[in-house]
Amino acid sequence: MAALPVPGPSVITRLRAAGCVFAEEEALLLAAAATTPNQLDTLVEQRVSGLPLEHVLGWAEFCGLRIEVDAGVFVPRRRTEFLVRQALQLLSESNITLPSRRTGTLPVVVDLCCGSGAVGSALAALAGPLELHASDIDPAAVRCAARNIVPFGGAVHEGDLYEALPERLRGRIDILAVNAPYVPSAAIATMPQEARLHEPRVSLDGGTDGLHVQRRVAAAARQWLAPGGSLLIETSRRQAPRTAGLFIRSGLTARVAGSGELDATIVIGTALNDPPAETGRPS
Ligand SMILES: C[S@@+](CC[C@H](N)C(=O)[O-])C[C@H]1O[C@@H](n2cnc3c(N)ncnc32)[C@H](O)[C@@H]1O
Repeated sequence: MAALPVPGPSVITRLRAAGCVFAEEEALLLAAAATTPNQLDTLVEQRVSGLPLEHVLGWAEFCGLRIEVDAGVFVPRRRTEFLVRQALQLLSESNITLPSRRTGTLPVVVDLCCGSGAVGSALAALAGPLELHASDIDPAAVRCAARNIVPFGGAVHEGDLYEALPERLRGRIDILAVNAPYVPSAAIATMPQEARLHEPRVSLDGGTDGLHVQRRVAAAARQWLAPGGSLLIETSRRQAPRTAGLFIRSGLTARVAGSGELDATIVIGTALNDPPAETGRPS
């Protein structure tokens, strides 16, 4: 059997010269992904040309899992592990209060705007049995998420926000976990090149104030949450008060939670009372 390629000093030097801060670690990961020196050279070349490491490797580490990430799909960020932690805490605290627990059915968890499906996969891996659904508007993300989510018994749907979800989930979602795009359009130009050039605009662009997608998610959440169910949305520290305002205006409670360690901020809310009478699908 041929020996696995070992990253020599020249690989590390090339990566460092291209601006890779963790050149040694990246070199080891690229070497582990290659089966021949030629293939290692190709992978290093892709990385040096500016492709995100996760797109070169085809996976990202998230909550201790290897999440498959295709080129052209948003790379899950470490900070989003905080969203998962908070959702896990709600699931464990809500043993008695959630209707699904009282009726003995599985908790219903939805990863809306799922990208690669990292959030849903992590929840399924760490929370035990769930009825898991994930959805995204981007067909490339949906294809990628299916490879991560289906092995956990989950289903992946394609479409615009709630329109993608099966109608039978209306009023039944216990945990609605959302990392939607929240970068203000004008700030995209200031993002690192890896994001700007290699992640789709639809995965980053939150509209002029960064809140366009969050606003639509919050507005229809009460229709889809089970009584006692929670909406969790990742946001930025700066935008958190305005994200919380969207929750309040949509008839939800709003609590901001943050992690200094992960530089993460989320807003969590539950419905204040029963949802208004149904008037058709939310837009
Ligand atoms: C910031 S990425 C997050 C992906 C994933 N939740 C994660 O944390 O890795 C936002 C995702 O939202 C999706 N998205 C944007 N607008 C959407 C919409 N109107 N309906 C559904 N998905 C949408 C994008 O395609 C992208 O995959």
